[in-house]
Amino acid sequence: MCGIVGYLGQQPAQDILLEGLRRLEYRGYDSAGLATLTRDNAQHTTTITRAPGKLNQLQEALKSKPCPGSTGIGHTRWATHGKPNEQNAHPHHTDGITVVHNGIIENHQELKTVLQKIGRTFSSETDTEVFAHLIAEAKKNEPDLLLAVKAALEKVDGAYALVVLDESDPERLICAKNASPLVIGLGDGENFIASDIPAVLKYTRDFHFLEDGDLASLTADKVTIWDTKTHTEQQRPVKTVEWSPVMAEKDGHEHFMHKEIFEQPRAITDTLRGRIDFDVGEPVLEQVHLDKLQNIDRILLLGCGTSYHSGMVAKYLFEQLARVHVEVDLASEFRYRNPVVDEKTLIIAISQSGETADTLAALKEAAQHGSPCLAICNVMDSAIARFCDARAGVLYTRAGPEIGVASTKAFVTQLVCLHMLALVLANQRGQISAENLKAEMVDLARIPREMEEILKSENAVQEIAERYQHMDHMLYLGRGPFFPIALEGALKLKEISYVHAEGYAAGEMKHGPIALIDENMPVVVMATQGPGYDKVMSNLEEVKARGGKIISVGLEDDERLANVSTDMMTLPQAPFWILPILSVLPLQMLAYHIAKLRGTDIDQPRNLAKSVTVE
Ligand code: M6R
Repeated sequence: MCGIVGYLGQQPAQDILLEGLRRLEYRGYDSAGLATLTRDNAQHTTTITRAPGKLNQLQEALKSKPCPGSTGIGHTRWATHGKPNEQNAHPHHTDGITVVHNGIIENHQELKTVLQKIGRTFSSETDTEVFAHLIAEAKKNEPDLLLAVKAALEKVDGAYALVVLDESDPERLICAKNASPLVIGLGDGENFIASDIPAVLKYTRDFHFLEDGDLASLTADKVTIWDTKTHTEQQRPVKTVEWSPVMAEKDGHEHFMHKEIFEQPRAITDTLRGRIDFDVGEPVLEQVHLDKLQNIDRILLLGCGTSYHSGMVAKYLFEQLARVHVEVDLASEFRYRNPVVDEKTLIIAISQSGETADTLAALKEAAQHGSPCLAICNVMDSAIARFCDARAGVLYTRAGPEIGVASTKAFVTQLVCLHMLALVLANQRGQISAENLKAEMVDLARIPREMEEILKSENAVQEIAERYQHMDHMLYLGRGPFFPIALEGALKLKEISYVHAEGYAAGEMKHGPIALIDENMPVVVMATQGPGYDKVMSNLEEVKARGGKIISVGLEDDERLANVSTDMMTLPQAPFWILPILSVLPLQMLAYHIAKLRGTDIDQPRNLAKSVTVE
């Protein structure tokens, strides 16, 4: 959940590391630090500057204590062990060895006790510092840094992405990965290490994606990778990412979240590119192994947070279009049950980052039961994508880097991917005519234009936000596929504005939440025409009768809805199954503007991290 960046080459490392960390700040942001090496006569010394709080505080600290040199490592932290203060901020250093680490060392307490018994003194409360001491100890017997790191890793249980800097071996960096993401960016006379691609996208688009168990040595000109399990050197392919550096910039927007909301039409165009081919007659899903979908009798969708909500929408869609039994589960719940899945259950793991620990663990659990596993992921070669690639395949959402902690464009691109998958399954199972399939594909292709229309209503949404900015609670309601959209709208509001919000199935209102309704509990309701519309209208009358304020999301010419609503956010006419995708846009804008008016930190809300790589 933290961010790592490493550099060695000819340029001043501090600037590159700091900029990399700025691009990674969304991964974790309670403290940060840099370490660089400089030559002092024949010796090298390490300069470390760390600061609690956000990156600006590190930047300030660097003014009085800069990190010179052209080799260095940096880290932005999301605390798991020890308070977010300077002492616990990474990098951690002992005896010329400096480390940054993401993940959790599960046996750190035992290791620390052993190390303390042999006289080692710890200066932080972190699990990470154990690494520095273990490597320093290993170097007493094994002077080669790479082998010393390997020896230290053998003692450690848990997840890590680790980068090591050594004063006595100044021309290289050593890094290792196990269950936490780490990539090596390849430059010309310089090389980079990062926990996430955007950190170094400005310098390179060519990457080695490390695999679990990899240990790598980098000089400015050479990268060598070993598999620690087989003790062999590995030839990992160089992969070029499609993301461009501007995609990771704010591009004139005040916040990444705002940019990402407004990027959604472009993101959907990219999601659909090359996949909607009317000559083929069904969506072309290049990395999905269609043969693995043929014998299934059940689908289980797994995800967390927003990705779980897209799975919930897909349940309605798969059942309706492909007539297949579907369940949706929170990955964190599934993995601790004794789940009943088998080789006929298709598991679809949904994850923007592809690194969410619970989703990955749930997948692995399902795979043990022989279930084919398919991923819907945004980040290329992420752990979940890789795990599924060798099984039922991967469907990349192609949303581009999503930097705002609140997921927006990833969600809608997931929905479009799931819709295409539902069509392929419906076709495979003989549940859809060629004519209807074509019509559905046309509907998908129209989404970007419809989204553009909705985004034009930002000013109107902003005015609504002004009227409700001081509310302490909001209730979100929806029926059918709009129920998960209500959940998603409520999640957006609570995570970025800290307003308490709850999503409910509209039909459940009478079974409890109606007791909450009064003038201080506005109700945001999805009320598009189609199945369930009349029932939702009845719910709204019940809210109105109790003095509740109604903010509706509905079709632009719906006068009946307009009459019952206190405020309305409108959608253009669109087919029923496209409307859930469209109706989340006003909810994202509403949450964004309420948060902005309340002055919260929209891109990096308190306590959250973009990828939840710990359990
Ligand atoms: O990367 P993933 O899609 O697996 O992440 C899942 C959740 O952590 C994520 O959707 C989270 O709920 C977002 N902050 C929601 O905006």
